[in-house]
Amino acid sequence: AKNTFEWRYPRLIAHRGGGFMAPENTLAAMRCGHEYGFSMLEFDVKLSQDNVLVLMHDDTVDRTSNGIGLAASKTFRELSELDFGAWHSAFYTGEPIATFLSVARFTQENNLFCNIEIKPCPNREEETGILVANAARQWWHHSHLLPLISSFSIEALAAAQKTAPELPRALLTEDLADNFIEVLERLDCVAINIKQSLLDQEKIARIHQAGYKVCAWTVNDYQRARQLLQWGCDALFTDELLRVTPEMA
Ligand code: G3P
Ligand code: MG
Repeated sequence: AKNTFEWRYPRLIAHRGGGFMAPENTLAAMRCGHEYGFSMLEFDVKLSQDNVLVLMHDDTVDRTSNGIGLAASKTFRELSELDFGAWHSAFYTGEPIATFLSVARFTQENNLFCNIEIKPCPNREEETGILVANAARQWWHHSHLLPLISSFSIEALAAAQKTAPELPRALLTEDLADNFIEVLERLDCVAINIKQSLLDQEKIARIHQAGYKVCAWTVNDYQRARQLLQWGCDALFTDELLRVTPEMA
C-alpha cells in the first residue's frame, strides 16, 4: 500500500444526501440522511455560471427543478429562484438549491462525514476541481472528519490534488481499467468507487491487494449489500435508506 491515510469512514453512505427519501442534493436531503442514522453523506458539486459551488447532479436543471436549461448558463441568483423540491413530492415544495457552504456547515454541526463528488459542468473540470478543493481545505481546516473527494473526471481530481493534496481522494469509475493502479497512484487516491453491478469478490481482492479501499455505487438491494460487505467492500452508497441501513454494517 502506497497511501498511509487512516480510513475511518463508515460502511454505509447516504447517496445524494437522502437517497430516494428527499429531493436529491438539497439541504432537506442531508437532514433526511442524518435523521435516518447515516453518518456519511454523498453529494454532487458543480459551479454556477458565476462560480458559486452548488449541489446538483445533472448538467441541466430540468429533472430536479421547475426550471429548464444548463446549470452552467445560470447565475447563482437565477438558480436560487428555482424550486428544487417539488419534483420529488409536494412536501418539499419550495426547497431551494443547496450551496456547498451550507452543506459543509450542516455536516460539521452534526458531526457527519462527507463524500464530495466533483461533478463539473462540461469544460469546467479543472476550475471546479480547484474551487472545490480550496473551499474544502478552508472549511474543514479545523475538522477531524476530513471529507473524501471523488470524481469521474481525472482532470478535476488532478486539480484537487494539486490544490489541496492533504484531502483524501477517490477515483470514480464504472469498471476497473487495466491500468487502474497507475491512475490511482498518480492521483494519490485512497480508494476507488466502482459501479456495484460490475463488482465481484475477485475485483475487491485485487483492489485491496494494490493497497486501496473500494466503495460501491449504488446499492439499493439488501441481499446485494450483505454480499458486498461480506466480500470486504469498504463502503456502499445507497438510495434505500430504509432497506440498506447503517445497522447492517
Ligand atoms: O459517488 C457515487 C455515485 O454518486 C456516482 O454516480 O451519477 O450518482 O453521481 P452518480
Ligand atoms: Mg454522485
